[in-house]
Amino acid sequence: MCGIIGYTGQQDAKEVLTEGLRQLEYRGYDSAGIAFLTDDGIKTIKSVGKVECLCDKVKKESDDATTCGIGHTRWATHGGVTDTNCHPHSAGKVTLIHNGIIENYKELQKEFEAKGIHPVSQTDSEIAAMVINDCYDGDPIKAIRSATKRLEGAYAFCIMFEDHPDVIYAIRNGSPLVAAATDEGSVIASDMVALIKYSKDYFVLPEHHIARLTKDGIVVINENHVAIDPPMLHVNWDVAAAKKGGYDYFMLKEIHEQPEAIRNTITPRTKDGLPYLEDDGVPDTIFDGINRIVITGCGTAMHAGLVGKNMLEHLIRIPVSVEIASEFRYSNPILDPHTLVITISQSGETADTKAALELANKCGCKTLSIVNAKGTSIARESDYVLYTHAGPEIAVASTKAYTVQLSVLYLFAFRFALVRGCISEQEARDYMKKLHATIDDITTVLTYDTQIQSISERLKHSEDLFFIGRGLDYALSCEGSIKLKEISYIHSEAYAAGELKHGTISLITDNVPVIALATQRNVLAKTLSNVVEVRSRGAMVILITNADTQVDASLCDHMITLPKMDDAFTPFASAVVLQYIAYYAAISRGLNVDQPRNLAKSVTVE
Ligand code: G6P
Repeated sequence: MCGIIGYTGQQDAKEVLTEGLRQLEYRGYDSAGIAFLTDDGIKTIKSVGKVECLCDKVKKESDDATTCGIGHTRWATHGGVTDTNCHPHSAGKVTLIHNGIIENYKELQKEFEAKGIHPVSQTDSEIAAMVINDCYDGDPIKAIRSATKRLEGAYAFCIMFEDHPDVIYAIRNGSPLVAAATDEGSVIASDMVALIKYSKDYFVLPEHHIARLTKDGIVVINENHVAIDPPMLHVNWDVAAAKKGGYDYFMLKEIHEQPEAIRNTITPRTKDGLPYLEDDGVPDTIFDGINRIVITGCGTAMHAGLVGKNMLEHLIRIPVSVEIASEFRYSNPILDPHTLVITISQSGETADTKAALELANKCGCKTLSIVNAKGTSIARESDYVLYTHAGPEIAVASTKAYTVQLSVLYLFAFRFALVRGCISEQEARDYMKKLHATIDDITTVLTYDTQIQSISERLKHSEDLFFIGRGLDYALSCEGSIKLKEISYIHSEAYAAGELKHGTISLITDNVPVIALATQRNVLAKTLSNVVEVRSRGAMVILITNADTQVDASLCDHMITLPKMDDAFTPFASAVVLQYIAYYAAISRGLNVDQPRNLAKSVTVE
């Protein structure tokens, strides 16, 4: 989704901004632009297409020296993908970039039009620039305060005022902004990936606070006009972690990072072989009085919840429901203080997940979040947070974030079950051993790349595909299907294998690929009979099984056998197989795996 970068300091601002925008490309965007201070005032250059198109344009159109500016990658919401709609937007003395959505922009636009002032673009962001300019009488902070009272919706703004050279102002409501002051100057961005080159220490701009960035540092002013020191955060990854490191795509690199990501996530939470959450500030009292769990999130994060539900219900025997955050937030859900709401989010900024969390907080539930990006809104607004330690995930298709989410859900379930007395210490130790063993299982599956690449070649010309499975395998089918759709653009559907005969089987004809997961012994015979059913109707079946089950290979066209493992832990290994299938199918179709069309890494608007 839209990316923001702002810089004022000693360095060449055009260079800093375009480099920052390159780092933010992974978020998904359709156009990009920068505005920077020159001897002749603020100059703006924008371009539809990739950041490289913008860089070419900047080279052609400006040889100005500049050390202060703002840059933006836009993911169109209001108004089509055009140069005019691209940010930055200007009105009078104000030039700004904006992430978020101004919900009352139409009413505001009418007010301006009644006075004969017309915007040039179709965006809500330009209207925001007009409002700030309207409130401006030479005092930027006063103008921002008055303007934001008139704006409804979510926003993160970086603003330059023509008569305040070398200064950038920023404010946010909902949408994220992080900032760092270094010897080289002050920098602000929509996420840490764009800042890491300059500093590993940063802060999250608190909501409704105004940041004033100058060459000498950053002042943060609260709503009472008092300067405050926001808490500093530190990341333990570096620029190299946000680069491809020899892999063709970030997605492939991130698939390969899974063993390490899981190790980093579970090792510090294993004490004397037992699950341990105290160091995360998650006390055992979190389980007191809980009689129900709701897990919510979007996309892949929600799919991780489906797997977590299985383990939690199996061990603790209390009801767990998994809710799509965008549905949950408007569903008038039945929640009470005995409900534990677990929100899962890689980015920690997904708008719908955040709204679901806010609702849970409002209803007095205990809230726990599982988040990868430190210090983000969802982490801060939850009662408790368990961070996953996957490092930065750049590819739009989530891979390592998913498996570390599973590992935290499992670890949490073991702790909960132990504290509740549902399992003994010995059983908890055994479960933890199996969790640690998934690191080796994933490492083994990573060596299947050549086999899976050649199988995935067969999907190159497919238009429709089905994933089938039962129980945990159905949860994995949902994830396999979204992964494939996202990056290969092959239409696919995940179906509970037992439900096939109630509809989907009518779509199975000659050579329609069916990816069948059959790793769960308790339903193995049932799933295999579904495989026979689809195969006898002409399907090309790729079967994923567990080494222990000794399935007859003649039942399918291709068989992928996971290492010998406990049924409850196969999701870790199956996930890698499904990620590989999606990756190699997309590669066979010649697609840009990391930046699929229309998708955004972090969806910070509704
Ligand atoms: C977007 C991404 C998905 C991700 C989902 C939830 O749709 O493309 O990969 O699973 O958002 O994101 P979150 O950051 O909340 O996990």
